[in-house]
Order: sequence, then structure tokens, then C-alpha cells
Amino acid sequence: MSQEITVIVLAAGGGTRMKSKTMKVLHPIAGRSMIGHVLHAAAALEPAHIVAVVGNQREQVGAHIEHLVPGVVLAVQETQEGTGHAVLMGWEALPAEARTGTVIVAYGDTPLLQGESLAAFADFHRASDDAMSILTGVVADPSGYGRIVRGADGGVEAIVEEKDATSEQARITEINSGILAFDAEFLDVALPLITNSNAKGEYYLTDTVHLARQHGRSVGAFAIGDVMQTEGANDRVQLAALAAEMNRRILDRWMRDGVTIVDPTSTWIDADVKLAADVTILPGVQLLGTTVVDEDAVIGPDSTLRDVEVGAGARVVRTHGELAVIGARAAVGPFSYLRPGTELGADGKIGAFVETKNASIGEGAKVPHLSYVGDASIGEGANIGAGTIFANYDGVSKHRTVIGAHAKTASNNTFVAPVTIGDGAATGAGSVIRRDVPPGSLAVTTGTQRHYDQWAQKRRAGTAQARAAEAAAGREDRPDAGTSAGPVSETPAGE
Ligand code: UD1
Ligand code: MG
Repeated sequence: MSQEITVIVLAAGGGTRMKSKTMKVLHPIAGRSMIGHVLHAAAALEPAHIVAVVGNQREQVGAHIEHLVPGVVLAVQETQEGTGHAVLMGWEALPAEARTGTVIVAYGDTPLLQGESLAAFADFHRASDDAMSILTGVVADPSGYGRIVRGADGGVEAIVEEKDATSEQARITEINSGILAFDAEFLDVALPLITNSNAKGEYYLTDTVHLARQHGRSVGAFAIGDVMQTEGANDRVQLAALAAEMNRRILDRWMRDGVTIVDPTSTWIDADVKLAADVTILPGVQLLGTTVVDEDAVIGPDSTLRDVEVGAGARVVRTHGELAVIGARAAVGPFSYLRPGTELGADGKIGAFVETKNASIGEGAKVPHLSYVGDASIGEGANIGAGTIFANYDGVSKHRTVIGAHAKTASNNTFVAPVTIGDGAATGAGSVIRRDVPPGSLAVTTGTQRHYDQWAQKRRAGTAQARAAEAAAGREDRPDAGTSAGPVSETPAGE
């Protein structure tokens, strides 16, 4: 018999209780869609074929699945007539020669499902002589689930859906998780025999149990201890509960792998994030997407990083970052905004109230305070003064600014791109740099300071400003006020 595995994932249902424009299985948990998690678990089986049965909003759902699993077989179920009908649609979408081996049926809305559990279940089935196997769970409250009915010998006789159950059957706490394994030959025979003569008028996939027994075949049951892995989310309350549970599991795994998470209740980490040992995460941190953090880095408090790479020993405080790279031992924050294309070199700094975009900041270079750095490259060891704006946009197109290695630019500068400031160059405070500055030059664009005497008294007469100026002038006029060079104090300023 073929050892091939085929996985059929059911995702045709409407998910109306989500009350959403977005199909249920596309709602995200921990950075992946719900069906993305299921497909990820399915991939662990290294299946020969993955079939996804889509129906409601099939363009949206189908495109998403094809993106995640190139080569997936998409089957369309036009009307939702039950799980038996859905699997029949999936089965018929497979070429005849592929209908062999073991077939696993799963649902698209059980995000906690783990590949190892599916693999253990598939192994259990393949080691048996059973026509089919059921992944079962024992739950405190079985309502809504199909109940596992066992015979006198303990063997599985039937799955009885809630609406069809006698009151005695309804008390059974062993339930059908929905995940089933079949011998392909048996499934091929059984699917067309399923009828819809039941309380819901649906084609129940669970009727296959009864059909197997009729054919003199046995049915296996494999109880999963961790029932939450098979729980689905039907509404947003359950979605949030599953998301919290998944997050808890992700955090547990990282803590066991040597990551310090100071406050797990306020930390969210997506499924595809990677952390090294001895990373420390302070309260209020979200690490999202494909963020990677190297050893000894400290993140937080209160930071959100999506698709960000953080180097070893870096320090990231109260920062929002997306598609950025932070070098080893670099310092970021507090209150920094790293937009896509930011690359901060090792030992560099992006400080308070600094926004960066499409900017590479070299090793040891610093942008410490109150600046916008867009479309720029800053050489190693350069220092950008407080309050600098890289004016990258002329209203039509974006241009680049290049700052040379070890350049020191002063406070409150504007660099009007495209412009280059050479290696080792400098600028004066308040400069607006429109022309390239040669290496080693000091560029100063501000005029000489001029004083208009008694401007306040003349131009702001009658105001508090003018009165303050008059009072100061009066004190200066007094004979004991010292020399005219030192009107306020005998000690020159700066000592
Ligand atoms: C099903 C099982 C039940 C099990 C429970 C576990 C049957 C008859 N019953 O019940 O034994 O305890 O799941 O959650 O199988 N779907 C389609 N097309 C359809 C119908 C359903 O794609 O025509 C998909 C749904 O999108 C969903 C899954 O199949 O992902 C299960 O359907 P649902 O209607 O929720 O089945 P239950 O009544 O919960
Ligand atoms: Mg259900």
C-alpha cells in the first residue's frame, strides 16, 4: 500500500459568526492566518498533495492558500452541504492516480494544531488495520461536538452529531475533533455512500464510521491530550482566546529556550519570530512578522517591531520599527520611528524623536535627537546634530542625501537633497545645505547676527515684552549697575 499522505483542508464554510468582510480562516493569529497555521502543520507531514476545499469568498481564500502553498489543489464546493460533501469535492479534485495512501482531513480554522500532533496521528493510523481513525479529545463540555460512541469491546461504533444524539449519547465527553485519517481505498468507496438523512439534512463526513463498520472494517481513535490544538474559532471572542493561548505557548517556548520575558502578560510574539538565547524582553513589547533578535539584545519597554532584524547586544527602547535592521550593540530610542529600509550599523545610535526611512546609517554613526532622516546614507562615525531634517522630497520626487564618514553636522540643519557632505566635513548650526560640501570643509549658510536697537520698545510698544525691555534698560542706566559691558552681573556669562 502507498505510504503517500494527502491532506484535505476544509475551508468552504461561511464563518458568519465572525461578522466580518474577511473570511474566517483568513483572520490572523500570531502573524499568520488561521488557515496558514493549519497548512503549516500539514506541511510537517510532507504530504504528496494538499487539497483545500473553498467555497465562500473563494477568490480571496483560494488566492491566499495558493500563495502559501504553491502547487495546492484547490477544490470548489459551491454550496455548503456538509463535511461529507466538502471532502467529496476535495477528493474529486484529485487526479485518480493520486487517490492513494493515507488521507488526513483537517479544518482550516484550528490555528493551534501542531505538525507533531498530526504526524503522530498519521503514524497511529498507518500502523493500524483500521479503515479510518479519529483524532478524539475528552472535554468537560462536549456541546456542539460529535460524540464518540464505543461498543461493548471498546471499539468505535459511530460518531453521533449533537442534534442526532440521544440524551444518553449527549452525555459522552469523548468527542470528534474533526480531524480524521482514512485509507484512500476506503474513502473512495465510502464518500458516495454518505446520505443527508439526519437532523441537519447535511452530508456528514462522520457517517464514514458507520459505513466502515457496515463493511466489516474497524475504526481507530487516537486521543489528543492537548484538546485546544483542535479547537476552532467561530467568533471574535474565541479568536481572541485562541490568540492569547497561542501567544502564551509561543512565550513559554522562548522562555524555555533561554529568553527572558519580564512580563508575559504584556508581550506578544508572532509565530515566525526568531530569538536567540539571552535576549531580554521588557514589558509592553510586540515582536511581529519575521522579526529576528540576536543574543543579549534588550527590547522594550513598549516597543513594536515588525520584520526587524536586531543585532547582538543592541538596545531598543520605546520604538516603533518596520522592515529595519539594527546593528550589533546599537542603541535605538526612546521614541524612535524606524520605517522600512532603515539600516543602522553596529554601535550606531538613533535617538529620541528621530524618524528614519530608507536610510543607511553607518557603523558608530549617530542621529541622537529630534530628526528626520529619509533617503540617506550616513557614513561610519558621522554625527548628525539635533533637529536635522533630511529634505528628501521636492514635491515631485524623492532624492538622496549622502553624509561622509566622520562628518559632524551641527544642530538645526536642513539637507536639501540631492546633496553630499564629504568625509570629515562639518556644518554650522542652523545651516540649510543645498550644495555639496567637499571633504573636510566647514559649511556655514547662516548670516551674521545683527541687532536692531530698541526694536521691542519701538515695534512692540505697550506690550509686556516692551515693558521688560524698558525695565532692563532702566537697570543698565543706574550708576551702580556696573560697567556698560556687564549690565546684569559682574561675572561674565559662561564662568
Ligand atoms: C463537525 C463534525 C463533528 C465534530 C466537529 C468538530 C461532522 C458532521 N461533524 O461538526 O463531529 O465534533 O466538527 O469541530 O463532520 N465545512 C465545509 N463545507 C461544508 C460544511 C463544513 O467546508 O459544507 C467546513 C467548515 O468551514 C468547517 C468544518 O468544515 O471548517 C466543520 O464544519 P462545521 O459546520 O463547523 O461542523 P460541525 O457541525 O462543527
Ligand atoms: Mg464547527
